[in-house]
Amino acid sequence: MTAPSRLTPETVIERERAAFAARSPRSAALAKRAAPHWLSGVPMHWMADWGTPFPLFVSNASGVTLTDADSHGYVDFCLGDTGAMYGHSPAPIADAIAAQAARGLTCMLPAETVASVGELLSARFKLPFWQVAQTATDANRAALRWARALTGKSKVLVFQGCYHGTVDETMVRLRGGRTVPREGAIGPAFDAASAAVVVEFNDIDALERALQGGEIAAVIAEPVMTNIGMVLPQAGFLDVLRARTRAHDVLLILDETHTLSSGPGGYVASLAWQSDFWVCGKAIAGGLPAAVLGFTDDIEARMRAVLGKRTGGHSGMGTTLAANPLVFAALSAALTHLHTEDTHAEMHRGAVQLERGLQAVFAERNLDWHISRVGARLEFGFGPAPRNGSEAERAMRPTLEHALHLWLLNRSLLVTPFHNMMLTAPMLPAAAIDRLCASIGEFLDSVDGIVSME
Ligand SMILES: Cc1ncc(COP(=O)(O)O)c(C=O)c1O
Repeated sequence: MTAPSRLTPETVIERERAAFAARSPRSAALAKRAAPHWLSGVPMHWMADWGTPFPLFVSNASGVTLTDADSHGYVDFCLGDTGAMYGHSPAPIADAIAAQAARGLTCMLPAETVASVGELLSARFKLPFWQVAQTATDANRAALRWARALTGKSKVLVFQGCYHGTVDETMVRLRGGRTVPREGAIGPAFDAASAAVVVEFNDIDALERALQGGEIAAVIAEPVMTNIGMVLPQAGFLDVLRARTRAHDVLLILDETHTLSSGPGGYVASLAWQSDFWVCGKAIAGGLPAAVLGFTDDIEARMRAVLGKRTGGHSGMGTTLAANPLVFAALSAALTHLHTEDTHAEMHRGAVQLERGLQAVFAERNLDWHISRVGARLEFGFGPAPRNGSEAERAMRPTLEHALHLWLLNRSLLVTPFHNMMLTAPMLPAAAIDRLCASIGEFLDSVDGIVSME
């Protein structure tokens, strides 16, 4: 008997797109109806980038199950790219929102719960002072504005391959050793390269050289890079980052919007120090749009000095709806029921099972592909683990990824588009993890051009 012939990734994409179209008549009809009224047929244009011939319309999402308009169920490993990391509509959040919904949605005044939420945030994330924003993007923008105001310096240092939301000054890349505006950015208000310096993650010498220039107000960083595949910090790198930023009076903003997956206190809980600012959005309020910005006593004192010298006018920070009572109800419930040791232990268990399962899938096929994991968040990549953003970028294989994502989608398994990221929510059944591993294995056995170690 001859072995079944393998397909090219392009052929897989073609076949899977056709299979998706055939089994999704209701999504197709909704796409047709939405097209005349929404740019690219979707409420945000990038939602059209999943690679399906038309968008998958969602009718319901609960726990790890997402149901589409055609009543197909999916096991969700994407989880809204982190917003639903604790599962869709966790009961404590849904209940808290429902209870608050009839008691006021927005007042431009602090809700009664503000005091207790401040206490809960401080106890959980070990920083004394907090502000709230609607999105992580906005919290990062605020942190950068404060950093410039507090240091009197103008630039931000970011790591190659970073993403911190649509924050203009972080939309930059390192190309040929130079900081340049990120490819594809639409309508920037200024030349982002004039406001930022990009260096490679894990490169202490480049970091030191950039800090010595004297223009850097802040470094904004994820403790593990998660938006260019996943790049782990080498031993001691984060400690050096903290020590050198402090030595140069450069403020350190840790963006833990994704690495909150590490555990109930975020990645920083495993470090011996605190950052000057700590930002988290997405899952912080269990999936309701909200973000928090934490900071130290020292930063608070410096902020008060800036506020004391102001002559009035608008600060350029803050939005009308961000600190609404619905968000505080959700934050309170999330801090009590989701950001806990027990919840993270469940998530961790699933992630370890998935990591081992994928290791076995790759080993059986002699693939030297790596798996990186930060708590309940995993990413696999084609080849050895990258040490920085440029290595990670070079190792990407977009066509193969696209083929895999569509293959999984048609087998009721949802992973994050654009890269190979998976999250394990607390209620994820072990059998679903086995099914994902088996399905990835079948894909690898069906597709041509998979490079093995032999
Ligand atoms: C590390 C990090 N920070 C900030 C953001 C921005 O989050 P949002 O789009 O909710 O503003 C993202 C989004 O992916 C992110 O990955």
